[in-house]
Amino acid sequence: MAEAGTLHDAFIDELRDTYDAEKQLTKALPKLAKAATNVKLRTAFESHLRETEGQIARLEQVFESLDEKVRGKHCDGIAGIIDEGKSIMEEDFDETTMDACLIAAGQRAEHYEMAAYGTLVAWAQAMGHTEAAKLLQQTLDEEKAADKKLSGLAEGGINQGAANAAHPQGDQEPVGASPSSARKTSAKSGRR
Ligand SMILES: [Fe+2]
Ligand SMILES: [Fe+2]
Repeated sequence: MAEAGTLHDAFIDELRDTYDAEKQLTKALPKLAKAATNVKLRTAFESHLRETEGQIARLEQVFESLDEKVRGKHCDGIAGIIDEGKSIMEEDFDETTMDACLIAAGQRAEHYEMAAYGTLVAWAQAMGHTEAAKLLQQTLDEEKAADKKLSGLAEGGINQGAANAAHPQGDQEPVGASPSSARKTSAKSGRR
């Protein structure tokens, strides 16, 4: 019987998973950028694409620092998040609503990455892989900053613009109305 795997094995496995996730994201981010109407949002996706390419190179350094071959392993988690983003892009939304939805899709990916890198940093530190921990922390910081930037864009006007289209003046939901009453009228049925 094979020996039981250690945390080090799990760490290498998680690195391979994350390496593949970043590669998938380099294909998804240009699509998000292309679908965005807001110029700042498009630029944010484009600049995060360049950052993501740097993160791939950084993961390669991590593998090297551990004397491991650079290898990816299909990441089902990010594939699912990317698929959901694709479905959103196929919806028939007005431009600002689409931008709000693209931010939501982008933030799902960022949070997934933050969870992955958070674990990787903690494991690297626990096992004394100082160089790997330092590199992984740099990427974790970039993911957090990318997430924050998306929040800033959403809360800095995009959400309100989309909300105004959903509820034009004088068409505010009465206080205390249940969210389901707003949902009964679908996006495609037009203005009320
Ligand atoms: Fe990333
Ligand atoms: Fe990211």
